[in-house]
Amino acid sequence: MNPAEFERARFNMDKKEKRKKRKGAQQHDCGPGETDEKIVNEKQMSGEDTAGPKRKMTVSIAVAGSIIDNAQSLELATLLAGQIARAATVFRIDEVVVFDSNPSVDNGGDGEESGARFLVRILEYLETPQYLRRRLFPMHKNLKFVGLLPPLDAPHHVRKHEWSEFREGVTLDGDRSKGTLVDVGLSKNVLVEQILEPGKRVTVAMGTDRDILKVRKVVPPSSPKDEMELYWGYKVRYASNLSGVFSDSQYKEGYDYIIGTSEHGKIMSSSELNLPSLRHLLIAFGGLAGLEESIEEDRNLKGKGVNDIFTAYLNTCPSQGSRTIRTEEALLISLQYFQDPIRRAG
Ligand SMILES: C[S@@+](CC[C@H](N)C(=O)[O-])C[C@H]1O[C@@H](n2cnc3c(N)ncnc32)[C@H](O)[C@@H]1O
Repeated sequence: MNPAEFERARFNMDKKEKRKKRKGAQQHDCGPGETDEKIVNEKQMSGEDTAGPKRKMTVSIAVAGSIIDNAQSLELATLLAGQIARAATVFRIDEVVVFDSNPSVDNGGDGEESGARFLVRILEYLETPQYLRRRLFPMHKNLKFVGLLPPLDAPHHVRKHEWSEFREGVTLDGDRSKGTLVDVGLSKNVLVEQILEPGKRVTVAMGTDRDILKVRKVVPPSSPKDEMELYWGYKVRYASNLSGVFSDSQYKEGYDYIIGTSEHGKIMSSSELNLPSLRHLLIAFGGLAGLEESIEEDRNLKGKGVNDIFTAYLNTCPSQGSRTIRTEEALLISLQYFQDPIRRAG
């Protein structure tokens, strides 16, 4: 076997191995015992960043919430939010940060909310498995048309009759002497060993043993990705302006590479873009007037330009036929453009 053939054979074996693992996680055959992951303190369960050797690179996107303000009806605003959610899921995005431009509009009191708050609400709703939505989302007038949207169909949206090594659940009220009951969308609730307050969304390691009475564990939400390379949905964060996207990162170390996207950005082909080895990548998308305007209107970024804020400022669609590429279109174009550089860096 020459070296090229050897590499190809090894690559195929790796692929087979990964496929087998994924199948084991999602499907229905019972293998050897449950995951022996040592769990967890409150911080880990809450999904906060818990850096460790197993953590994989994360990809976050920041999106201007003002795109919603330009939608002409609640139906169209909902559809737009649904497109952002679909794009984030299709490209396995770990975190969506929605940044506001005029937070004073947002009073929340009579149900009026800024476009950014609206987008956060719809993104969170769609990311939540259907069986948990009634418990976690009170009725709200802005959810009126969300039922019309195509589902995300992500791996953590597990159906009732399917077995999965991990399941999202919500903690229930009741006797806590032996642990906490969790609704994981099966016909019966499961018991987890941790004592947790009711109404919390958690990730439960179900393992491969289907005995419904078995006591299970709550694990960090990153476990399905870290252990089995499963895409387990995105987190959503609201930032009151662009600078808040960077300063309030959920990751202790912050983002180590920040890309801004714009028609004014540098033109280079995707194959020329070499990202360094990264922990947390962030890709930012502006609203109607672009990221440059978001910088100008942010008091915390006074006197700064795109080169002070972004590690790279890129035009991902240089030969556009329309005068403007809309943010929801730019998301799909750009995330496809970044696929290969991310894969090479990851
Ligand atoms: C309506 S455009 C804003 C147009 C603005 N003149 C600009 O800076 O690109 C909305 C967003 O789509 C993205 N976008 C538009 N055209 C792009 C391009 N050619 N390359 C990368 N991103 C683009 C950017 O994130 C931009 O902020």
